Amino acid sequence: MASEKPYLAMTCTAPVNIAVIKYWGKRDEELILPINSSLSVTLHQDQARCQEQVRAALPSGYLPLPTVRRLARKRRSDEEEDPLPLSLNYKVHVASVNNFPTAAGLASSASGYACLAYALARVYGVESDLSEVARRGSGSACRSLYGGFVEWQMGEQADGKDSVARQVAPESHWPELRVLILVVSAEKKLTGSTVGMQTSVETSPLLRFRAEAVVPARMAEMIRYVKERNFQGFGELTMKDSNQFHATCLDTFPPISYLNDTSRRIIHLVHRFNAHHGQTKVAYTFDAGPNAVIFTLDDTVAEFVAAVRHSFPPESNGDKFLKGLPVKPGPLSDELKAALGMDPTPGSIKYIIATQVGPGPQILDHPHAHLLGPDGLPKPTV
Ligand code: PMV
Repeated sequence: MASEKPYLAMTCTAPVNIAVIKYWGKRDEELILPINSSLSVTLHQDQARCQEQVRAALPSGYLPLPTVRRLARKRRSDEEEDPLPLSLNYKVHVASVNNFPTAAGLASSASGYACLAYALARVYGVESDLSEVARRGSGSACRSLYGGFVEWQMGEQADGKDSVARQVAPESHWPELRVLILVVSAEKKLTGSTVGMQTSVETSPLLRFRAEAVVPARMAEMIRYVKERNFQGFGELTMKDSNQFHATCLDTFPPISYLNDTSRRIIHLVHRFNAHHGQTKVAYTFDAGPNAVIFTLDDTVAEFVAAVRHSFPPESNGDKFLKGLPVKPGPLSDELKAALGMDPTPGSIKYIIATQVGPGPQILDHPHAHLLGPDGLPKPTV
């Protein structure tokens, strides 16, 4: 231990976010500035999160400080005489793990880059807005810097200083809201989001129309629905915006299609389910892949999961079909079964992750959370 080099270290976690008003297209590829604003829901980190430890090795001669918080405090109160000149030239080690299967097709880059930005900022005592740092990794990552409901304002300035994420409502705002991730495919997508959006910006007139004429009004409407906890409005607009995003993908030349037959069957199931109830009780949204993210309220989860099990019976390969929050076996009336009107397709949904709205990045203080060993390399378990 005595020979160990001094270092500053921080272990943090950051969440996954799912957009209900989609970001698709950059106006500046270098600064990662979007052509439209977007809005997302932060998922709970018990079910989906990235955990990272950042460790900056210090030059010999400097004493290690027990916590970065102490350093930050010292820096603030003693600006004149900085006892520890933090340099960006220090060697930084980073280890990262996700608690959700990568195959779930969740936006792992968003949680990963948000976590990195957050942990580095803590190590270096940076207290300013981190949107700019996080979005340079992956645009949607800036929305993972906050919990609850988060808006990424596109901004107008050429330097991107006003292109920032901000919380619209905290995670405690809508406690009944539930999220189900229907994992359809483990396959890697054919077109990554970076290339996909570039081609769409270059070729799709529909995307330009969407960004200029549709999204501004939708952002205002969606923020109002969230603030009012209006599920009818929120759910309907979420589905319309997902559909328009995938329409711009098809309008791209050559076309991009992220949805597959199972995705389309899920869309059909949701509309039949809602039509049976005479109101929007569940809503879907799809990102750049075939997996569905479903929003609903806690009183509808059991019945909807029963409808999914009926239409997409699990394959008996020993895997757990339902992961995450517990869901009671739900009722499925003969009327609803008939209304769904679908021949079951066994095995096309691999599993479901049940979760809810959650908080933003967290600091993990206990030593068990550390991912890097005393030599600065990832522990064997990582
Ligand atoms: O942040 P990126 O470059 O991975 O792009 C995300 C794009 C979508 O997930 C399709 C939409 C969104 O707003 O998250």
